[in-house]
Order: sequence, then structure tokens, then C-alpha cells
Amino acid sequence: MVEDDGAFAGRAGLNTTHVAGEPVVELAWAIVGPARGRGLAGRAAVAAVAAARELELEEVVSFTLPDNLASRRVMEKAGLAFDRDITHAGLPHVLYRLRL
Ligand SMILES: CC(C)(COP(=O)(O)OP(=O)(O)OC[C@H]1O[C@@H](n2cnc3c(N)ncnc32)[C@H](O)[C@@H]1OP(=O)(O)O)[C@@H](O)C(=O)NCCC(=O)NCCS
Repeated sequence: MVEDDGAFAGRAGLNTTHVAGEPVVELAWAIVGPARGRGLAGRAAVAAVAAARELELEEVVSFTLPDNLASRRVMEKAGLAFDRDITHAGLPHVLYRLRL
């Protein structure tokens, strides 16, 4: 859970899933509207990457719709890099990856 001054502000963390036929550990986030734009997702993503390192994971990925520029920026702030274009849930997505 992401908190802002003690109030619920969203969720972020690690999730096991499949993407483009590959089993992955996904880094995902969502911040409630009023709390956006203050760096919360970026800080939560960096904390999730630190948790992934503690868990000795080999890599994490994240994916989003190509025009979700805020989410793509959060991926970059957490150290992930563009891997490739994929189709997910029948829609074009961009896949980012960080090898740990
Ligand atoms: C995407 C989301 C998590 C970002 O949360 P946030 O707390 O506002 O993110 P941050 O403030 O940490 O960082 C956002 C970054 O994107 C940048 N950004 C925001 N809108 C942008 C745009 N339209 N174009 C380019 N960059 C943009 C911000 O400038 C910031 O980068 P910076 O720190 O270098 O200035 C939030 O908007 C959200 O929950 N959206 C709906 C759910 C969603 O899309 N989840 C992700 C699904 S994969």
C-alpha cells in the first residue's frame, strides 16, 4: 500500500504473472488521482526494486500501454529499460525490463 501523510494513496509492488507467454515478476503501481504527480509511484517503484533485490530475483519487468507516458517514466525512474513491443490482453503494450 502507498500512503501519503497516513492516507491511502495507491498500491505498488511485485506480482507473479505471465506476459507474452513468459513467466515474470511484474512491477506494478496505481496511484489515486489526487495524489498523482508528486513522485509517489516513482518512490514506490524504487522500493519494490529494492525488495526484489533482497528476494534475490534475477529480473523484474513492467508493461503498459504505449501512450501511458507517466507509467513509462516511472519504469525508467526505477531503473527499467525498454525491452520490446508486445501484445497483452489483445492490446499493444510496451515491455520494460531490469536484470538484477
Ligand atoms: C502512472 C501513475 C502510477 C504515476 O503515478 P505518480 O505518482 O504520478 O508518478 P510519479 O510522480 O512518481 O512520476 C511520474 C513521472 O511521469 C512524468 N509524466 C507524467 N505525465 C507525463 C506525460 N504525459 N508525458 C511525459 N511524462 C509524464 C512526470 O513528470 C514524472 O516524471 P519526473 O519525476 O521525471 O518529473 C499514475 O498516474 C496512475 O496511477 N495512473 C493510473 C494507473 C496506471 O496507469 N497504472 C500503471 C499501469 S501499467
